[in-house]
Amino acid sequence: MRDEFERIFGATPTGVWSAPGRVNLIGEHTDYNEGFVLPIALPQAVKVAARARDDDRLRLYSVQGDDVVTDLSAAQLVPGAVTSWAAYPASVVWALREAGHRAGGADLYFDSDVPGGAGLSSSAALECAVAIAYRDLYRLDLTSDELALIAQRAENDFAGVPCGVMDQMASASCVAGAALFLDTRPRSVDGGAPVLTHRHVPFRPDEQGLVLLVIDTRVKHDLGDGAYAALRAGCERAAELLGLAALRDLDAARLPAALDRLPAELGPMVRHVVSENERVERAVALLDKGDFAALGPILTAGHASLRDDFRVSCAETDLAVDAAVAAGALGARMTGGGFGGSVIALVPRESEAAVEAAVEAAFLAAGHLAPRVFAATAAAGAHRES
Ligand code: GLA
Repeated sequence: MRDEFERIFGATPTGVWSAPGRVNLIGEHTDYNEGFVLPIALPQAVKVAARARDDDRLRLYSVQGDDVVTDLSAAQLVPGAVTSWAAYPASVVWALREAGHRAGGADLYFDSDVPGGAGLSSSAALECAVAIAYRDLYRLDLTSDELALIAQRAENDFAGVPCGVMDQMASASCVAGAALFLDTRPRSVDGGAPVLTHRHVPFRPDEQGLVLLVIDTRVKHDLGDGAYAALRAGCERAAELLGLAALRDLDAARLPAALDRLPAELGPMVRHVVSENERVERAVALLDKGDFAALGPILTAGHASLRDDFRVSCAETDLAVDAAVAAGALGARMTGGGFGGSVIALVPRESEAAVEAAVEAAFLAAGHLAPRVFAATAAAGAHRES
């Protein structure tokens, strides 16, 4: 990367930073309802070689891009003005400046092995890679949680995707060998700036003979197309009708009475959010006991809820889940925003090959492209590599 950086920018990079993609174990469409999530960071990451500049030029090059250097002014970034992939790195520089940080020009060279459009948070990884490189290049006093919140603001207000904070927190704050149990409700401690409460929960399924498979259905997933925004708006409308600050404030005991008060189209969505928050808490209790196998049925129940109540699965994700479970997976579910993307399956090591073969056979029989399957481990969050 250093050699290629020099070839493109004619200078030496100060360092190389990396920020990972993620899969969420459980807790889907709960983050913008101030609920719970439980993601792990993936070994696949966005790497960025970078150096600060004396002027305010922001020069961006990506191996996955179209072989041109995008040249912007860091001081004159305007939401909506950048439309290519470069909007994501630019958005972070904009959000840092909006938050009052000294964030000037830089040369940034990106390379990524996080599959794009696969529901694995390639854009959050890109944002967090820029945020952590800027933190070091400009000596900004920012914790990893603050980096994540800046990256989320960047995606919401510059890139225009109204996402929650899960993906950015996973990319910025995960540690290797653990899932991130995150309460997405911001809390102010002693009147200070809002912080997010989280805890690292050990997740090493390999120690119990289990493998977490990621099955990329190759159905393109695009959160910018309005469907995600509509779901979020529906949840916020339901909370408002129920007189709640967020759906997080509803529990299972009060759910039936709440459903009576809601229009028919909002009820199932609310039921998903309430049951999903409970599934996260049950999953964390199992992981705390080291009982990884018992996670399986919770994953499959989570998928049924996303399919039947929240309605964000699709034929390919449903097929991958059903085929994986029929071939011996302990549980499986779609992960991420939905409408395609990836499925995770928790599989005994001895069934790994059979599950992979069964999913592929089912896809080919149904006339779908063969899925891409890989085993995931819980990797480290964003960090400096060299
Ligand atoms: C996307 C968003 C996240 C979260 C998930 C659904 O990944 O970026 O904030 O809402 O969808 O759980």
